[in-house]
Amino acid sequence: MADTQFGKNGWTPDRIGSLKGKTYLITGATSGTGFEASKILASKGAKVVMLNRSPKKSVDVIARIKQELGSNVDVSFIRMDLGDQSSVKAAVAEVLEKVERIDALMCNGAIAQVPTQQFTVDGHESMLGVNHYGHFTLQALLFPLIDKSKGRIVTVGSMGYDMGIKTIQFDDMNWNHNYHQNNTYSQSKLAQIMTVYELQNRLKKAGNHHVKVYACHPGSSSTSLIKTSGNLVTRIMFGLMKLSPMVQSAEKGAYPEVMCATEPNLDERGFYGPTGIANWVGPVGDCGIKPHALDKQVAKRLWEASEKATGVNWAL
Ligand SMILES: NC(=O)c1ccc[n+]([C@@H]2O[C@H](COP(=O)([O-])OP(=O)(O)OC[C@H]3O[C@@H](n4cnc5c(N)ncnc54)[C@H](OP(=O)(O)O)[C@@H]3O)[C@@H](O)[C@H]2O)c1
Repeated sequence: MADTQFGKNGWTPDRIGSLKGKTYLITGATSGTGFEASKILASKGAKVVMLNRSPKKSVDVIARIKQELGSNVDVSFIRMDLGDQSSVKAAVAEVLEKVERIDALMCNGAIAQVPTQQFTVDGHESMLGVNHYGHFTLQALLFPLIDKSKGRIVTVGSMGYDMGIKTIQFDDMNWNHNYHQNNTYSQSKLAQIMTVYELQNRLKKAGNHHVKVYACHPGSSSTSLIKTSGNLVTRIMFGLMKLSPMVQSAEKGAYPEVMCATEPNLDERGFYGPTGIANWVGPVGDCGIKPHALDKQVAKRLWEASEKATGVNWAL
């Protein structure tokens, strides 16, 4: 087990003081780690704005949080479908109307292991479109307010970045020739993670911004991820895995992203998650990032491809 800088139990929410006056935006908070992260942040007095695709589920989970923590907690939602660029843009406009500051934008929502090639309304392969392009646009358009707030961007990646093809296949971003539920998911999470380190590089070069950017992952956590988008075999396999000690609770899976959103003086070059067996479970700390996720040429090309695909340019 890797050493964590937070002792043998790793990072836990006990380290967080009062978050009164702070505002956290989080995507995909209707279940799993996003829901748990929202609850932790709200319990510390933060204002939490969920960016969710389902209004009905949002109303339900907010009621659940209020039932557990008290009706005075400040949790609300704005409708946003990450798989629809126009919905992301509309949500950004609503955020800018309703929210004065962003202490952290937590890019948590995702789909995974989609069995067959599907497309977003904008014509992108669904996992790349939802997980990467949706968040790329969201981050770019909210960047000025995050910068003004001296806030953070937190991306929830996956150890899947180190599986699959371990690079970006620029000649077939939609996977028309070799679609594979695992490899295609892995590439989408690698794209998200590469964007974190590339953004850090760009911010450093620009030299006049105040945003910190972090990458993390939840290890292997008991959430709705596979149930929502995986096929029957994958669902059964993950269902069995959930009975083993190799899968932790969704609450523990939320710790890395909450840490990246709140912990002072965290090294941006880390990759934070559980440090136990295979980085699936265990105390939260820095798992280390492999070189292919830091490849500068691939990252630059990915950035340009993402700006082209979304039509969004970062104001850096
Ligand atoms: N669980 C794991 O073991 C594991 C492992 C590695 C990485 N991760 C990562 O952890 C993060 C959280 O996932 P989770 O495991 O907590 O899964 P989850 O329980 O399925 O939560 C995913 C969330 O994303 C939302 N979402 C999906 N598509 C969306 C869209 N088009 N627009 C807006 N929101 C959308 C879902 O909303 P709906 O409720 O409407 O579906 C849900 O709120 C993801 O980034 C995932 O890649 C998870």
